[in-house]
Amino acid sequence: AEQKESERLGTPVEELRRMPKCGQSLPHLRAAHYHKILIRTDLLKEGHIPVPYPSKYHDLWDDDGTVKMPCSEHNLFPLENEDGKVCSTQSRWKLIRSALGREFKRSHDIRDAILSYNTVHAKRWDFTALNLLCEKGFGSSEVKHLLNVTLPKMVKLVLDTPKICTQPIPLLKMRMNQSLTMSQEQIACLLANAFFCTFPRRNSRKSEYGNYPEINFYRLFESSSSRKIEKLKTLLCYFRRVTESMPTGLVTFTRQCLSSIPEWESSKTQLTRLHITCKGTIENEGYGMLQVDFANRMVGGGVTGMGLVQEEIRFLINPELIVSRLFTEALDYDECLIITGTEQYSKYSGYAESFKWKDNHKDEIPRDEWQRRCTEIVAMDALKYRNFMEQFQPEKMTRELNKAFCSFMRHGTNPQNLSAVATGNWGCGAFGGDTHLKALLQLMAASEAGRDVAYFTFGDERLMRDVHVLYTFLKDNCVTVGDLYFHLKQYSNVVSKHGQWPNINLYGYIMDKVSTNMEAEPNPGPSDSD
Ligand code: AR6
Repeated sequence: AEQKESERLGTPVEELRRMPKCGQSLPHLRAAHYHKILIRTDLLKEGHIPVPYPSKYHDLWDDDGTVKMPCSEHNLFPLENEDGKVCSTQSRWKLIRSALGREFKRSHDIRDAILSYNTVHAKRWDFTALNLLCEKGFGSSEVKHLLNVTLPKMVKLVLDTPKICTQPIPLLKMRMNQSLTMSQEQIACLLANAFFCTFPRRNSRKSEYGNYPEINFYRLFESSSSRKIEKLKTLLCYFRRVTESMPTGLVTFTRQCLSSIPEWESSKTQLTRLHITCKGTIENEGYGMLQVDFANRMVGGGVTGMGLVQEEIRFLINPELIVSRLFTEALDYDECLIITGTEQYSKYSGYAESFKWKDNHKDEIPRDEWQRRCTEIVAMDALKYRNFMEQFQPEKMTRELNKAFCSFMRHGTNPQNLSAVATGNWGCGAFGGDTHLKALLQLMAASEAGRDVAYFTFGDERLMRDVHVLYTFLKDNCVTVGDLYFHLKQYSNVVSKHGQWPNINLYGYIMDKVSTNMEAEPNPGPSDSD
């Protein structure tokens, strides 16, 4: 859609780089110690469902390297005698198979099946939302279709787990620079398992997965809130779509840690280009760009619970993102998760309380040579601020700069081949950050990584104008990233000295200092101000 003059400023968006146009051709897809691939790369063919690798299920139940699978023979279920004492064990996979093999006549049958292999949680887990969806949320033909068609096909995916997910899935643990590529079919299979809550050792924070996000969907079924109903509709749209026609692409998940921290203070980097608009969203208008997910350190945040803001919405409309919760350990301060190739299945309207599933979405983003949709999303988690002043502490600003830089930087790639970054008010909603500060920090990080920025202010016209005024001023005065870092630290000093808000806002302060420096010496340097 054409944008009106008053709704956008800076570099026209058409001039910013997007994938696949700006990218280099990819090397052959090949497994390596830093890249695990769960399919046969030699048989990869456009339009065909990728072939799992290896051909036979490899069972591994280790304590810290791979995902514990529901179909493992080590997945055991304790059997109790009359006194409630454990007397023997039984294969939990066998229980799952027989419970899911039964017909679903009504929504209660789904609950009964799930609880039959999750008996310890029978008292705690609540299926109100699922029941409400079947009683009120869906029309009768939709309920019929769900019970008679979609759910049985999802069950088939679960039962086929040892045929589809044959290779142990590596955990992407803290400090690991590791990629994992799998097929959309494998993801559908894993997500069907998540729906039926089959993943072992994942229902309690106290398990060895305590530092991983929740993956089993049991929290989605609870409560009578309309949020849950709309979330279920969105996810069931995905399951309906993939069980009707299995997508044939791949998705890559890359955990990236910062290897060396930029020396912000001495950076001579000039600001890259900025397009800023108060209309549009990252996911629509940012197609082909690096799209920022305003993440939680537990990727996906509250997607299986109550959360329903930017990250959760993205995970719902592109549900393949959710599988990252199965294997991605909490993100550390200088780490991010990059997800390439997920597909959008749903359209939505509203936000948070007003979020509604709207319709099917047909994703027309082209695929790359690895059969991945050219949609690159980066999960980067901001810090959550309870006290507004806190974020101006130098170590907090540096943390956010490093996090954003880690997310935008691509080792060994010429910046000319990197798309622009599509972002917005990162950390400024649920996490309470200041939009003016965060916009500047992200612009600095993107510049340092050599990438342009498309900034979506999400309706905030004032922010759009403020950022643009500052940006234009900085460009006109050739202010570098290092200069900006210096001024931010000085501002931080002022804030902490006064213990309160200075008379001048951040942007005003920076422009004031830069101007003063300019007058003081024709060749501006940060060294002698104040
Ligand atoms: N496109 C562009 N901007 C958007 C969009 C969009 N699609 N959606 C929202 N915004 P928030 P945070 C703007 O609160 O503060 C989740 O639970 C809008 O102005 O989602 O980083 C995560 O799991 C909004 O106020 O991000 C974390 O736990 C602002 O972006 C936590 O929230 C911030 O969106 C992260 O909170």
